[in-house]
Amino acid sequence: MNQLIHYNQEKNIFHLSNNKISYIIELENNDYLIHRHWGKVIDNYNFSNKPKLKKRTFAANLKEHEQDYSFEFLPLEFSTLDNGDFRSPSLKILNSDNQYITRFKYVNYKILDNSVTLDNLPHARLSEKAETLIIYLIDNTGQVELQLFYTIYSDSNIITRSTKITNKSTAPIEIEKISSSSTDVLYESQEVRSFSGTHQREFQLNTKKIEPGLYKTGSNRGASGPQHPPFVSIARDANEFQGEVYGFSLLYSGNHEEIIERDQYNQLRIQLGLNSDGFSWTLESNQSFQSPQAILSYSQEGYNGQTQNFHHFFQNYIINPEWNNKKRPILINSWEMTYFDVSEKIIKNVINSAHELGFEMVVLDDGWFGERNDSSSSLGDWTVNKEKFPNGLESVVEYAENKNIDFGLWFEPEMISPNSKLINTHPEWVMRNSTYEPLQSRRQYFLDLTNKEVQDFIIMTISSYIENLGLKYIKWDMNRHMTDPYSLINSNIKSSTFMHKYVLSLYYILDTLVDKYPQVLFENCSSGGGRLDPGMLYYFPQTWISDNTDAFDRQSIFYGASNFFPISSLTAHVSDVPNHQTGRSISFNTRAALASSSNMGYEMDIINAESNLKDKIKRHINNYKSERSLILDSKFYRLSSPFESNISSWMYLANNGGEAIVYVFRNLYKINNLNLNIRIPYLDENAVYIDLNTKHIYSGAEIAHSGIAFENPKQDFIVHKLHLRKL
Ligand code: DGJ
Repeated sequence: MNQLIHYNQEKNIFHLSNNKISYIIELENNDYLIHRHWGKVIDNYNFSNKPKLKKRTFAANLKEHEQDYSFEFLPLEFSTLDNGDFRSPSLKILNSDNQYITRFKYVNYKILDNSVTLDNLPHARLSEKAETLIIYLIDNTGQVELQLFYTIYSDSNIITRSTKITNKSTAPIEIEKISSSSTDVLYESQEVRSFSGTHQREFQLNTKKIEPGLYKTGSNRGASGPQHPPFVSIARDANEFQGEVYGFSLLYSGNHEEIIERDQYNQLRIQLGLNSDGFSWTLESNQSFQSPQAILSYSQEGYNGQTQNFHHFFQNYIINPEWNNKKRPILINSWEMTYFDVSEKIIKNVINSAHELGFEMVVLDDGWFGERNDSSSSLGDWTVNKEKFPNGLESVVEYAENKNIDFGLWFEPEMISPNSKLINTHPEWVMRNSTYEPLQSRRQYFLDLTNKEVQDFIIMTISSYIENLGLKYIKWDMNRHMTDPYSLINSNIKSSTFMHKYVLSLYYILDTLVDKYPQVLFENCSSGGGRLDPGMLYYFPQTWISDNTDAFDRQSIFYGASNFFPISSLTAHVSDVPNHQTGRSISFNTRAALASSSNMGYEMDIINAESNLKDKIKRHINNYKSERSLILDSKFYRLSSPFESNISSWMYLANNGGEAIVYVFRNLYKINNLNLNIRIPYLDENAVYIDLNTKHIYSGAEIAHSGIAFENPKQDFIVHKLHLRKL
């Protein structure tokens, strides 16, 4: 492997590069880290873009005799308060005299020939295809050390960053803000893209022109949240297919912030990290604090190029290697079939039908434990409800095994119901303080995960079910956001520190379980995609991305999430009509095609389905099995956006380029849409392809540049599918 990181002593630059990208930092005056370039690879950098500084009113000067030299005009690698920068600081650290620590200066650097792991936090997995630059700085007055981490990979257009603070003084210091990355770049960028949403409407695209001022998204809900998941992109004249796109994400599942600031000189700053609103962390003498990793992507090939970067990186460096590219089971989940009304009899019937139809797994969702007949009780009472399952779950699991069907189970381990036995035995396990009555949401409280006893209880409960039943799959749900962030047991934890401690505790629990049971498939869920972020992806190879199973609404949810998440990590289920969330009735064919666009399963009443529907399900499952590896392990490209038109379209291109599946969903029928035409780039333009369904022959060039015209029948919500093979 060629060396990826160089320090050029003559030019005083750190240059991180592989054959695609470069990231260049100048060490100016042997003190300051100035950002010089991030983008396409540059072999020989000679400061061509170094801004010509000018004396400006209001600027505070770093050097007494150089009035044009101010932090305000410099593109920085990190920033502090009160030193003339005046833009959003990436660090806010108070010393014990309540003064901000602001004057960090360069000390030295280290280059490691691998990536780095982070204590207590999920991180890009250790790799020798990477190198890491660590730059050490110190504020001598405050005796605080700052370390900036940069990792670059030989096979990826991604750079990860993280920040570490060490208190070398004798008194405690208080961290109020620590960005994982702060980048001053892209003076001409036009737009910012982020995603927003809520329950049943996750990952909706927002595009905004970047105006002067400060724009911030994030979460203060104790979870990354569906409202603003931790992803932003900055782009110049880009679309799905072309243009420069800079993408940012945070490997974290709790409160986060993304800050975009356009200043008075048109400079642009992008910061990512723990949400600084309401955050603080006390660092005693000799203690360190490390931020989560930020993931920075550069694409020259538009948003699809950015997707290739993230998919490749998540697959190779984030998802549990045990599960990456491993066959994902086609499951039937009980939720939309029975809701809380589950029983041995019903589940055995589900198993019979699942066996008949070709399913590989049955998942028993909510309602199987305690006295759980609705959402008002029993979270925490993880004992099987004997009225519903008189012979325990063992009998159901055995029944499934005899039919060669795997069995999976739902839990919501982080919660406790006010109406539960657990709360009577352990009232002190509720996350709350001693004065306020905690707020309920979905009639439940959080457990105080910072309490070691609670951690052990969750690990023990889940372990015993895995071991006693031989579970192959667990759906880990989390259905509320955080209020009352306090611990009765660890009452010294400040509320401003608690939410991060909670997430660290959750990671500890997940680490322990995933490590202990690598063969178990853990599926992430938070009322659907309420905690869909790279941190959770590290532990959960797949996520139930929305409780909205409507085949129209799901197009945009899937389209949004597919920007970052590999297809195998996004699950989708075929459900009944009229759809339970929207009341809409869409044909089976379209519903099946939409679910088949991801990691596919079902949650519909397969017991009482008519024989005609059962035939369709059987055929659909059979067909998906034959295409599964192409869908889940290929290059994914978006072709037409539901956010911009009546048509959603996407493609799966085999890694060897020899085969492709293309879906085209046309939603409302419109009288004036005569021609339904989609152009499909990314194929080999010099090759000829056959559509395996119609046997039509097309050249790669004509599909890319003239497009393919599809039938446009008088009907809403239709789907077309091409299955192309190179001849
Ligand atoms: C919310 C999840 O998103 C649903 O799929 C289901 O598991 C329910 N919780 C159960 O309460």
